[in-house]
Amino acid sequence: MKSCGQLELVMAIEDADIFCDWVREHWAVEPVCLEQPRGDRAVVDIYFDTLAEAEARRRKLPAKFAFSSVQAMICREEQWTTFWRHHFHVQDIGRRLRTVPVWETPPDRKRINLRIDPGLSFGTGGHFTTRFCLEELEKACGKLKPRSMLDAGTGSGILAIAAAKLGVKTIDAFDYDPVCVEKCAENAALNHLGKGRIRFYQADILRDGWMKRPADVVCANILTHVLIEAAPALWRATKRRLLLTGIREFEGDSVADAFVAGGAREVLRDGDGEWCGIVLDRPKT
Ligand SMILES: C[S@@+](CC[C@H](N)C(=O)[O-])C[C@H]1O[C@@H](n2cnc3c(N)ncnc32)[C@H](O)[C@@H]1O
Repeated sequence: MKSCGQLELVMAIEDADIFCDWVREHWAVEPVCLEQPRGDRAVVDIYFDTLAEAEARRRKLPAKFAFSSVQAMICREEQWTTFWRHHFHVQDIGRRLRTVPVWETPPDRKRINLRIDPGLSFGTGGHFTTRFCLEELEKACGKLKPRSMLDAGTGSGILAIAAAKLGVKTIDAFDYDPVCVEKCAENAALNHLGKGRIRFYQADILRDGWMKRPADVVCANILTHVLIEAAPALWRATKRRLLLTGIREFEGDSVADAFVAGGAREVLRDGDGEWCGIVLDRPKT
């Protein structure tokens, strides 16, 4: 059975956003923040590979934040499943797509059903960043008819699976987290995509060797500092269109600038007030 380390903190709602920003900036992980209905407390959960790491991080919490409770604990995959059962439901996205958790029956076949078991991975369609990529991927598939797609930081595999179901022939998808890579293969099977239809592999975008071949459309839903550091390589991997997200709204310009400096043309930017996504094209020569 898979497990990971979890740091659970309870704090005043008004401090939670600033604390979550601090976690993203200093620990480069994405916290899950749940606000208690009608309460004045927020529960922030942060996940690490091991309990030892969660405990080490607990000792490094900055004194400037006040917590009413701090707990480092083991999180088992079955606990995540319970979490997702409360937070992940059937959702229509774009004109044709629909995300369907593995424990729910797809309502009909009027949309392209993306069946997902998130397990410990990110990527259900519930977050703006995933929705943005799915919507823009659907548009790109309609307009550009891409033959190849690359999904950097694939998480649950949701974007790669959508690309396959939208008709893209050649798909590469990688994540540095081996648990995600395993889950992606399971999710591809859940969607009746034969073994090898999508090439999933483990790689770190900040190290050499992750790019197997350039693709017509590239998606990267990873945090800002990673996108900026990987910008030259990501742009080299892009033949026609690059979809970027995982970016806070106030960081949008710095990400766009890193790619425009390499020759990209920004064609669209969208956001939900907190997160934003950027679409970049390779100008025709
Ligand atoms: C926000 S999730 C995106 C998941 C999915 N693509 C989606 O759009 O919902 C970011 C993913 O990128 C992966 N990731 C973060 N840093 C990475 C790196 N340096 N190299 C490869 N993958 C990375 C994480 O493990 C995580 O699965």
